[in-house]
Amino acid sequence: MTATTKRVHNFSAGPAALPLSVLERVQAELVDFRGIGMSVMEMSHRSGPFEAIIGEAEADLRKLVGIPDDYSILFLQGGATLQFAMVPMNLRPSGASADYILTGHWAKAALKEAQKIGSAKAAGSTEATSFDRIPSQSELSLDRSAAYLHFTSNNTIYGTEWAAEPLPLDGVPLVCDASSDILSRPFDIKRYGLVYGGAQKNLGPAGVTIVIVRKDLLARVPGDLPVMLDYRVMAENRSLYNTPPCFAIYVVGLVLKWLVDEGGLAGVAKHNQQKADLLYGAIDGSNGYYRGHAQRDSRSRMNVTFRMPSEELEKAFIKKATAEGLDGLKGHRSVGGLRASLYNALPLGAVEALVQFMDEFQRKNA
Ligand SMILES: Cc1ncc(COP(=O)(O)O)c(C=O)c1O
Repeated sequence: MTATTKRVHNFSAGPAALPLSVLERVQAELVDFRGIGMSVMEMSHRSGPFEAIIGEAEADLRKLVGIPDDYSILFLQGGATLQFAMVPMNLRPSGASADYILTGHWAKAALKEAQKIGSAKAAGSTEATSFDRIPSQSELSLDRSAAYLHFTSNNTIYGTEWAAEPLPLDGVPLVCDASSDILSRPFDIKRYGLVYGGAQKNLGPAGVTIVIVRKDLLARVPGDLPVMLDYRVMAENRSLYNTPPCFAIYVVGLVLKWLVDEGGLAGVAKHNQQKADLLYGAIDGSNGYYRGHAQRDSRSRMNVTFRMPSEELEKAFIKKATAEGLDGLKGHRSVGGLRASLYNALPLGAVEALVQFMDEFQRKNA
């Protein structure tokens, strides 16, 4: 970094903080990628160097998660929101229904999109208590003949997260929107039929969406889908049917290598837990001055949502925090309050600074 570079503590919910070492590597390679004489942005997606970039990203993702060969990895565009439509288009046979567990705004959006083009049902919901918790298995009413069971592993807006996956009925594939906690901890891909997530929170810049899909499910893909919406076409062409988001894939590849250096998913999970424990500890130790939105056993390690005694105090807190380099703490417009996003790349030092600020703010304003 140059002497004039100023970096804030970035608590944004996404696009979000990237590892500084990754940004610096991008900067160093920007104009002349590894002696090739051009930027990744200027490079053909059919060139050897780009094929190596996408191939390595796929291989590193397989190694990090432990993804066997019977799963395809796709690098797509359109964000998680396009997956809300692509999942039912590809995996729900004509006339069949699909189950959705409603734990927040994005889960509802996924259900709504699926219902535009076929049948889909809510298999459970915690909306009655403002999505402050994850439902228990016994609360779910699952359809034995559902094409799949869809859930949202981390609820970015409400700050809740599944500690363990819901259990689908026998033979019903589990589909997960993991946009806001993907690769934040180890997980067993074999429990899933399909996992998807936009990269812009834990994995890289906006513009690329990762889809991991069990290959046998591709047999369900109808033959008449537009090519850009067809998982089978994308899998057969290793995400290179058309021009992919090359630069975003390159940065994701660097983030994956950074994750390997951080000790893989087990290493980063430990780090994420430390950060979350520190912040929830501060909330719990504030005598109710800061109040967490999520019930304790549903708390997210990624998005910590909390309120203060009044909206005026919340506004003052955000203003002062921003001035002191603690950025992106405003809660989502639909729930208000505060939200600190603690994705993989956010350093522990940022949470230490936030906790200290919270303590001082309380002492001065309580
Ligand atoms: C859990 C979840 N799903 C889906 C989305 C929508 O993602 P995108 O903007 O990539 O379409 C978001 C965005 O914040 C999210 O947090």
